[in-house]
This record gives sequence, C-alpha cells and structure tokens, in this order.
Amino acid sequence: MDKFLISGGRALNGSVAISGAKNSALPCMAAALLTAETVTLHNLPYARDIITQRRLLEDLGATVLTPELRTHKINAAHIEVFEAPYELVKTMRASVLALGPLLARFGKAKVSLPGGCAIGTRPIDLHLKGFELLGAEVRLEGGNVVARAPQDGRLIGAIVNFEKVTVTGTENLLMAATLARGKTVLHNAACEPEISDLCELLNRMGARVRGSGTPTIEIEGVEALGGAQHTIIPDRIETGTFIVAAAITDGELIIKDCQPEHLTSVIEQLREVGVNIEELNQSTLRVTRGTALRAKNVTTEPHPKFPTDMQAQYMALMTQAEGEAIITETVFENRFMHASELQRMGAQIHLNGRIATVTGPTKLTGAPVLASDLRASASLVLAGLVAQGETVIERVYHIDRGYERIETKLRAVGANIQRLRESVTAPLSEDAAPDATALAS
Ligand code: EPZ
Repeated sequence: MDKFLISGGRALNGSVAISGAKNSALPCMAAALLTAETVTLHNLPYARDIITQRRLLEDLGATVLTPELRTHKINAAHIEVFEAPYELVKTMRASVLALGPLLARFGKAKVSLPGGCAIGTRPIDLHLKGFELLGAEVRLEGGNVVARAPQDGRLIGAIVNFEKVTVTGTENLLMAATLARGKTVLHNAACEPEISDLCELLNRMGARVRGSGTPTIEIEGVEALGGAQHTIIPDRIETGTFIVAAAITDGELIIKDCQPEHLTSVIEQLREVGVNIEELNQSTLRVTRGTALRAKNVTTEPHPKFPTDMQAQYMALMTQAEGEAIITETVFENRFMHASELQRMGAQIHLNGRIATVTGPTKLTGAPVLASDLRASASLVLAGLVAQGETVIERVYHIDRGYERIETKLRAVGANIQRLRESVTAPLSEDAAPDATALAS
C-alpha cells in the first residue's frame, strides 16, 4: 500500500486548480441508469471512487466511454444485472446510489447493505423507508437489500419526511421519484450543493424537480428520461482543504476553478481565525495569512452550516492556533480518528465523545501515522506540511478515493511530499500520474 513521505516546514506558494466534486460525480453517474440514452459528464475528478462507480455501472451492463480523462459518456441502454454486489459496496458505500435509479426504471434492485465505516455506523434505514413510502416492497436477505416496485413496475409519488438530513438518502429518493407515477415531496431534504448539481442534471434529462438546495424538494414523475450533457461542480471540500494548506504553512495560494459560494461557512470560519481569503473572481481565491491564527470553536452540521467533511482539516489548523478550540461533531458519531494520530505528532487534543478540545499553538514533529478515512488522511497531510522533520502517512489509498493527485498538486506549490509505492520504495518522478490500475486497487 502506498505511503506519503512529507518533509514539513515549507510555506506553500503558487496556484492550484480544483477538480470536480466527488460527491456530485457519484450520484450524477448513478443517474445515468435512469435512461437508455447517453449521459455525458464533464469535469469528473480523477479519483479512485469514480473508477469504482464506473466499474459498478459496467458490471450492471452500462457502457462507459472516456473520450478524455475527465469526461465519461455513460449509456445504460442494456442493463442486464440489477445488483450492486458486496465486493463493490464494501469498498464504496456510495454504491447504494444505484438502488433508486434501478428500482425506478426496472422495478427491481438488489444492493449489498453497506456495513459501518471508520466514521460511524451509517445505516441506510431512511433510504429504505423512503422507497417503501413510494410503494416499493423492501426486504433484507443475506446481507442484501432486495427491493421491488408495485405490480406494474412503477413507483408511486408520495410525501417523504426525513427524520434526519441525509445527503445520499435525498439523492436516492430524488432519482427514484423522477420516474414515479405522480408527485413526490421530500421534506427535511439535504441542501448540499451536490444535491442541486444532481437536480440540474436530472432536469436536463427531462425530469421535473423543483426546490433543490432547499429543505423541500418537489418531483413530478415522468414516463421516461432522456440523455444529457452536464459539467460537475468544483469540489468545495478540496477547495477548503487547500485553503487550510495555505493557512497552516503561512503560505500564499491562488486557488483556481473553485466555487466560493459553495463553502461560505468554511470561508467565514477561517476568516475569523485569521486567514485572509480574497475572492479574485467567481472561481478564484487568493489565500494568505500573515498574522497568528486565533482558536475558534466550531460545530459541524448539514449544509449550509460548517461541513463535517472539513472537520479533520480544521482540527489540524487549530493545532497551530492560539488558544482553545472546541470542535463538536454532530453528523457522525465516530469522526475523530485523526485526533490520536495528530497527538502522535505532538498536538494537544482532548476527546470527550463528540467533542474535541484543541489547545495551541503546538510545534508538531514528523512521525509515522496511519490514515483511517478520506478526510482524516487529508488532515494528516496538512499536519505533515507544518511539522518539523519527516512524516510518513500509511494507507493513503484513503486519500486517493476523493482527492485527485493531491501530492502532485502540493508539490507544484512547493511542498516536499513524495508517494512511496509499496513495491518500489523510490519516490515517483516529478509529474508521474498515478495509473488507473494502481488507483483501482
Ligand atoms: C454524504 O454521506 C457524503 N458522501 C459524506 O462525505 C458526507 O460526510 C455526508 O454526506 C455528510 O455531509 C457522499 O456524498 C458520497 P448522510 P452520506 O446520509 O449520504 C445518518 C466524504 O468524506 N443516517 O447525510 O452517507 C448517518 O449515519 C464523505 O466525502 C441515518 O441514520 O451521509 C449520519 O449520522 C464521508 N440513516 C447522518 O445521518 C440513513 O438512512 C448523515 O449521513 C442515512 C443517514
């Protein structure tokens, strides 16, 4: 398994381009299952989860052409398999996003129940309750969710009140409702920008979705959907990660191809702790620091509040801030795995259930650390950039899942970071791109 070797202490300087959003690309790829016509997606991130989703679509019988690296032409005219197997779902929970489209278009679907993961139990009960409200018969069988639409194979529009805000739950029900008979209303729906991006694609395919980006989404079901072209929005979490990278190294970064309005809460929070963030234009930020960082409490909540996917990166930054910062994680019950690794680097962090108290500033020193999940690994990379000496991060396959060539992007702005491959211990040459087979492992 690959590792990262980071020699810290360099201020980052230069410009970095943001890739497409993983958490929009995944549901948009699944949406192609709703039609027999071709869906063309541009600005896909070159990340491992996208390759896994592609493999799932191909296993179901779809064809996926790649005219260029970040464009996929997906055609689901000949779907022969209606099952997302355990082997795939265990590597990527978002495989459950196949459930809604398969059930809506073919009246049947079988998807392995995703188990828990490092950050929490993450049940999908709210997805399943939603499908039952749309008339589906849902049962668990041998670790699989087996779902069937009513007699005539079509779901029936209904009112769904989500007990909790769920992003993929909203996306699954959204997609299912586009082909249902009649109207569906989703209440307490997630408002993440990725939801609005999916709705934009669905409406281009001929769906009738209103209210995306608000807690109430209305979907008028249609007989069939057509093909469409769509460009995936920039990744707001990758943007936030690079803002923190500039701040934690006291460097200067120009962040291009981003969409600042998608991470307003993050930008506001970071400005309040002393990070200068200038919007040079609608898709470019200039980030500097200049003054000492001030500690500030934060609570993670669904969009538009502070995203849980930025919590780990924020914790790394708070190790360098003056004072005490209380970080409250309300979305996932076990999302502080990175804290103990940051403590190994000398950070002062006290954990109490869903509350972490970070006291700073502390001088971090390089150490061997272990990545446990996607965003935790990003926080360890950030800590390694500011730590004195060398940090070795193991299991970086976690970061490859959602960040496109992060070490290449960081090296281009002055970081001393190398990918050590399990087999060849010598670091890769300057701009060697990770090859697809390695990422797919
Ligand atoms: C999405 O996960 C994202 N993944 C996650 O990003 C992100 O952390 C999360 O939303 C919250 O913003 C993708 O979009 C692929 P949820 P999702 O359903 O949809 C509970 C990353 O780092 N819940 O909104 O799985 C659940 O346990 C990843 O890129 C139920 O109880 O998250 C959690 O506590 C990590 N029952 C809360 O709701 C359900 O049926 C929110 O989960 C569904 C969810």
